[in-house]
Amino acid sequence: MKFFVDTADVAAITELNALGMVDGVTTNPSLILKSGRDILEVTKEICGIVSGPVSAEVVSLTADEMIAEGRKLAKIASNIAVKVPLTWDGLKACKVLSGEGNMVNVTLCFSPNQALLAAKAGATFISPFIGRLDDINLDGLELIADIRQIYDNYGFETQILAASIRTPNHVAECARIGADVMTAPPEVIRKLASHPLTDAGLTQFMKDWAKTGQKIL
Ligand code: E4P
Repeated sequence: MKFFVDTADVAAITELNALGMVDGVTTNPSLILKSGRDILEVTKEICGIVSGPVSAEVVSLTADEMIAEGRKLAKIASNIAVKVPLTWDGLKACKVLSGEGNMVNVTLCFSPNQALLAAKAGATFISPFIGRLDDINLDGLELIADIRQIYDNYGFETQILAASIRTPNHVAECARIGADVMTAPPEVIRKLASHPLTDAGLTQFMKDWAKTGQKIL
């Protein structure tokens, strides 16, 4: 499963990228707001750090305007994936932009039928939002499993990009189900390394090592 980092924080992307943990980046208007940066500037900087796909989201509601914005965003770098919302206009924009050879990430997906439409419109990525479904007492992981089955039934090549990931358990379950990609905030990716038994074991090893009176260096 590929790891995308869900942020426009350049320092966090740089740190995780150096560890080989970043196969791509996803941003959205809320993350651009949080970064306090200009969308074109920060996206260009991210594209210079990461060689994989960098999603940059359009901010219009009509297909024609989304297409114009998508074309402009795609000019930032060759690894831009234009992100469009899963609306009827977004699907029209997806069809046109992907037909022009751009990577397109269809975002805000909350149902299997929406995912089916995105694949038929030529999406490179479909972004089902797990956490936001869990927030309203629905099952985000079940949606990932449903889309996996549907795409496999018909051989759709659209990649399932599990989004709105909030917990390490979401990551493990997405990998088990067979999501192609997951995107998570830097803090969730860092948490994947944590285990209380690792901490307890290390504390004991350090205590015992001190008692030996030895040094390696
Ligand atoms: C995906 O591309 C979105 O940017 C993101 O995963 C949304 O996550 P949230 O629901 O935690 O805001």
